[in-house]
Amino acid sequence: MTNGKNNDLLLVNIGSTEKFPINFQELEQAAKEKLTTGPFGYIRSSAGGEETYRKNIEAFPKYSIVPRFLNDVSTLNTEVTIFGRTYPHPLFIAPVGVNKIAHEDGEIAVAKAAAKYDFPYIQSTVSSYSIEEIAAATEGSSKWFQLYWSQNKEIAFSMVKRADQAGYEAIVLTVDTVMLGWREEDVRNQFSPLKRGFAKGNYASDPVFMSALPDHEEETIISSIVENIYHPSLNWDNIAELKERTTLPILIKGILHPEDAKLAIEKGIDGIIVSNHGGRQLDGVIASIDALPAIVEAVNGKIPVLFDSGIRRGSDAVKALALGATAVCIGRPFVWGLAADGQAGVERVLENFLQETKVSISLSGVSNLSQLRNLKIVRN
Ligand SMILES: Cc1cc2nc3c(=O)[nH]c(=O)nc-3n(C[C@H](O)[C@H](O)[C@H](O)COP(=O)(O)O)c2cc1C
Repeated sequence: MTNGKNNDLLLVNIGSTEKFPINFQELEQAAKEKLTTGPFGYIRSSAGGEETYRKNIEAFPKYSIVPRFLNDVSTLNTEVTIFGRTYPHPLFIAPVGVNKIAHEDGEIAVAKAAAKYDFPYIQSTVSSYSIEEIAAATEGSSKWFQLYWSQNKEIAFSMVKRADQAGYEAIVLTVDTVMLGWREEDVRNQFSPLKRGFAKGNYASDPVFMSALPDHEEETIISSIVENIYHPSLNWDNIAELKERTTLPILIKGILHPEDAKLAIEKGIDGIIVSNHGGRQLDGVIASIDALPAIVEAVNGKIPVLFDSGIRRGSDAVKALALGATAVCIGRPFVWGLAADGQAGVERVLENFLQETKVSISLSGVSNLSQLRNLKIVRN
């Protein structure tokens, strides 16, 4: 790939008469104008006093890129290979549930936009649309399935099997959400997407979940989702059970401690995602980017280390990649794009994100991701 195209695109955007929010604050504002208080608050807010949410954002400027010049950067190769599959760039869609609260087309719109821009799509367990619906809408594109464990673990195994059958390529087990974080905004707004039925895409279509219910009334389905999503007993033995039930690679999402990263490797886990859930779970935890370097060191290249929480623009992605992330997942920015303008809005967000990332890599003076990993980053 050459770099001429990237620069052309920037100029094309400047010439455009179409108005669309560019940066995160503008996107959030545009979404706010479209959404009612409950859904907007659910997406925007985090747990407790939102200390971790703020830390995630404020931590990035502490890391500075020290670029090199006079390296010919006229070609750029952003390819990354994970579990034997090569992706054109290291940018993924983070699992975000209940997308219908942002837009009627929900996850279908996001997955289609992701497919168009080659962002592998990680589908949430608590999606508004099902695994099969998303697979049918985006045939051939790369998809992983994010798993929330279930009180009735046969439901979890059933969803994993369905994801495998639908062509999903990996399972991402989220371990930081054994119960919901203390989210004051949702209490204030009396808004729970789970209780309003926005999370049922994968449950109402699951034969194991449905056959365990006394009846198929909406209320019964919803109360059983709420019951099953609470799984405080999750532990390493469950990981061993999950490994027995699938041949797909398994990643653990929510790792913040290097010892947990080492344990994951010991237990045969195939990859991890360093994440604090965008500050939505335990408030007061370490900024995700601050947790990354020690985890990269502990993992020592044995398994892929993906990253999310606080990524707002391309230069954030460059910092995370330079600090050793194999790939980076984007969360809230695409949700605001979805709220602002459905699939077209997500496309604009992903396109700008991808182009800014490419320009930022080239302006750092490197031409591929292994060179990027050797880029000097200083902590001020
Ligand atoms: C509205 C919303 C819903 C989310 N739903 C899920 C989910 O279902 N499963 C999951 O593992 N993470 C979920 N996350 C967390 C994201 O995967 C990701 O960790 C987080 O968005 C990163 O923080 P950032 O968006 O501030 O960068 C959700 C995040 C948001 C904002």
